[in-house]
Amino acid sequence: MALFMSKSISGFSKLSKAKKIDWIVTTYFSNSEEARTIIEQYWNTDAKIQQLHDEFIENTITNYYLPLGVAPNFLINDKLYTIPMVIEESSVVAAASKAAKFWLDRGGFKTKVLSTTKIGQVHFIYHGDVHKLRAFFKHIKPQLLSDTASITKNMADRGGGILDIELRDKTKDKKGYYQLHVSFETLNAMGANFINSCLEQFAKTLKDGAKSFELFSDEEKKIDIVMSILSNYVPDCLVRAEVSCKVEDLTESDLISGEAFAYKFIQAVSIAEVEPYRAVTHNKGIMNGIDAVVLATGNDFRAVEAGVHAYAARHGRYRSLTHAKVEDGIFHFWIEIPLALGTVGGLTKLHPLVKLALELLHHPSAKELMQIVAVAGLAQNFAALRSLTTTGIQKGHMKMHLLNILNQCGANEMEKQTLTEYFKSHTVSHRAVSEALHHLRSGPGVSG
Ligand code: MEV
Repeated sequence: MALFMSKSISGFSKLSKAKKIDWIVTTYFSNSEEARTIIEQYWNTDAKIQQLHDEFIENTITNYYLPLGVAPNFLINDKLYTIPMVIEESSVVAAASKAAKFWLDRGGFKTKVLSTTKIGQVHFIYHGDVHKLRAFFKHIKPQLLSDTASITKNMADRGGGILDIELRDKTKDKKGYYQLHVSFETLNAMGANFINSCLEQFAKTLKDGAKSFELFSDEEKKIDIVMSILSNYVPDCLVRAEVSCKVEDLTESDLISGEAFAYKFIQAVSIAEVEPYRAVTHNKGIMNGIDAVVLATGNDFRAVEAGVHAYAARHGRYRSLTHAKVEDGIFHFWIEIPLALGTVGGLTKLHPLVKLALELLHHPSAKELMQIVAVAGLAQNFAALRSLTTTGIQKGHMKMHLLNILNQCGANEMEKQTLTEYFKSHTVSHRAVSEALHHLRSGPGVSG
């Protein structure tokens, strides 16, 4: 009876892991023991590693696997990388590897970090005289810095910290709305904790200081702090990655000339610069590469996604993040993208696979990681546009998809080999694969 009835529970987070699982499997599953087996199957056999993962979040019941693949042969500023990628979509790693190999023979990727500034804001409401507020800000600014000195000391010793604090009048957008708009340099840290700690101290100093600021009336002394939080919009934490080669060197097979390919490719990019429906899918393909490396290196892909899409819409229309042109017979293809990443702090010292991924990348600084991630996005977009403008995307996709379908149908290794060969010259669909497998099992084999 309890099954499928919604049932609330209080004190769930205080139950032991075993009790949580008991409650879940008996409340929600028709076959509780089967559900329990699946949950336990995904536990790590090493109790310490399991405990580590349990403690990343609340109410952990098991682990959720995603594959960690690698894409070798990325030549970035003349240094070779094998890039770790965590992603479930079957064609992404293969496409990245293909693009890496293509550009390896054509000079590789060139990258540059353009800026590394991050932003945080204290949002507050003040209904008094703006001139008095400005005077108060001037008066309190040194104290804002001195009150955060213990938080910023380590970062400042390494060359980072608070770059500037501005008072911003936002009353045109909302009555009484002002901000402390603060810029930070967080070096190798993504900086969320550092920035938020500084901001919360600013808010406290601001609120307390206002109470005793002589120019303020009693009403003006009551500055109302709404919230203090970093911004995931980081248009001044920007990286550029580029590939270029002679147009004729774009020729890879007899299928299409370098000139024809460059022409089509540039058309495809320029469509994504003017048409938001296409731009979203175009940029989604870029994020296939970006998110996969961001995840593998233990970074916050939601922060990156939010910041990147806002950047893509910064001129008031959502557009392509990549650009392409031919100039003096040279094909250029590049991306400029905001990326707030860290290679210290967060999961980087905790998650064994994140540590492994960072070692695979030669222990990059945050700036180096920005460049690697931007390259993964550019490579992914190159691979997608190359397929889309020549063979179409389904050919490559279905090849990778074939393996997934064969696994779903329970094919053994021999069957997988035979059918992979067969489908080199046949169209892949779920039905075609299951029929071919059926024939293979019941008759003399597949032919044709
Ligand atoms: C699929 O995950 C990504 C693509 O749709 C990207 C694109 O269309 O450019 C292939």
